[in-house]
Amino acid sequence: MIKEKEYVSRRTTLGKKLKDNSIAIVFSATMKTRSNDTEYAYRQNSNFYYLSGFKEDNAALLFHKEKGIVKTYMFVQHRDKLLELWTGKRLGEKRGRKHFRIDEVFSIKKLDKMLEEFIKLGQNIYFDFRSDASRIEKIKELSNHYHSHKNIAIIIEKSRLIKSDGEIALIKKAVSITKDAHHMAMEKSKILGNEYELLAEIEYIFKKNGAYSDAYTSIVASANAANTLHYINNDSKIVDNELILIDAGCEYEYYASDITRTIPANGKFTKAQKELYEMILDVQEKLIAMIKPNILRTDIQMKSEELLCDGMLELGILEGDKQELLKSKAHKKYYPHGVGHWMGIDVHDEAPYRTKKGKEIPLKSGMVMTIEPGMYIDKDDKDVPKKYRGIGIRIEDDILVTKDGYENLSKGIRKSVKEIESIS
Ligand code: GLY
Ligand code: MN
Ligand code: MN
Repeated sequence: MIKEKEYVSRRTTLGKKLKDNSIAIVFSATMKTRSNDTEYAYRQNSNFYYLSGFKEDNAALLFHKEKGIVKTYMFVQHRDKLLELWTGKRLGEKRGRKHFRIDEVFSIKKLDKMLEEFIKLGQNIYFDFRSDASRIEKIKELSNHYHSHKNIAIIIEKSRLIKSDGEIALIKKAVSITKDAHHMAMEKSKILGNEYELLAEIEYIFKKNGAYSDAYTSIVASANAANTLHYINNDSKIVDNELILIDAGCEYEYYASDITRTIPANGKFTKAQKELYEMILDVQEKLIAMIKPNILRTDIQMKSEELLCDGMLELGILEGDKQELLKSKAHKKYYPHGVGHWMGIDVHDEAPYRTKKGKEIPLKSGMVMTIEPGMYIDKDDKDVPKKYRGIGIRIEDDILVTKDGYENLSKGIRKSVKEIESIS
């Protein structure tokens, strides 16, 4: 768990970064209708959660900075017995005053009026430019030519780059639940007939262990479906001697895990599958080994393309001069995506890759990045030796950058051919 004092410190950090004579507002996520009068499961806005740890909807956090002094205010739903009977207990302003270490807690009903007053006080108005249109409209309506609008999300997300010990502990917990889920899938793939059955086993492990949700829509793609990068139908038959690409990771207390394993449905790789798999695994391990402070993601990306291109040449998937192939991006046909991304409260963590001036941000201790090379060969691709057609493989781990190098947070998830084949 993240302690309340960490949220205070995050707000203090943000307050320091605000220009003087400003107000900043961060809204909770809005409930989304699923159909008629039913709603999607609520998930808090990541930046709002990062600053408050508060999971209720219909809330807002407001900062006011004047003469270098920052005051913070929280707006929450008022307690209401009747409504609470339907939708559950609310914290309310009274208990909120004890719970949050914040200057004042008000009912959300007061927000519009108070926002109007606050906007008169500040010249710089910070808000998330991706907030709901109605909220943006309101802010614009209340401000005039004197005000300058700034995107608060950019400032918050910069802080999210480096994870605290508490955040790392939550990511580790998410990864450990995901580990059990992948191991269960490795066991059950031999006896289950359909992708959705395998998915059910994975989701069972997530939920059983207190991971309320997945961190993204899981992919359970058998055979040629693995070549559809965002395959989420997960409803095809599992074929005995084919591979299954499983990209699934749970979210635990708002922290993600993001793991891909590619496994043989019947527990044993064919010779061709093994050739491709071991090549990609070797590439992935070399890329992980590059991780240390001051390395650029672009260096890892370039290395991944080079190493995969070597592998494709060795296996006869590409032919020709390596430098020419890289230059013409021929390898991109089989490796079209990036090598990895930041991970944290969001699976694709909303943290910048470049500074405002466009300079790439190097890796630093405390950052978490996925490393996920893959190769995807469509079943009808006549340019590739027949034995490799219809195979799609990705291997993905979650890596913490440390002071001296890295820690592979998902190293406990079976990955070598031997480890996968020996699961019973
Ligand atoms: N599961 C999403 C990704 O690998 O980026
Ligand atoms: Mn990923
Ligand atoms: Mn993934």
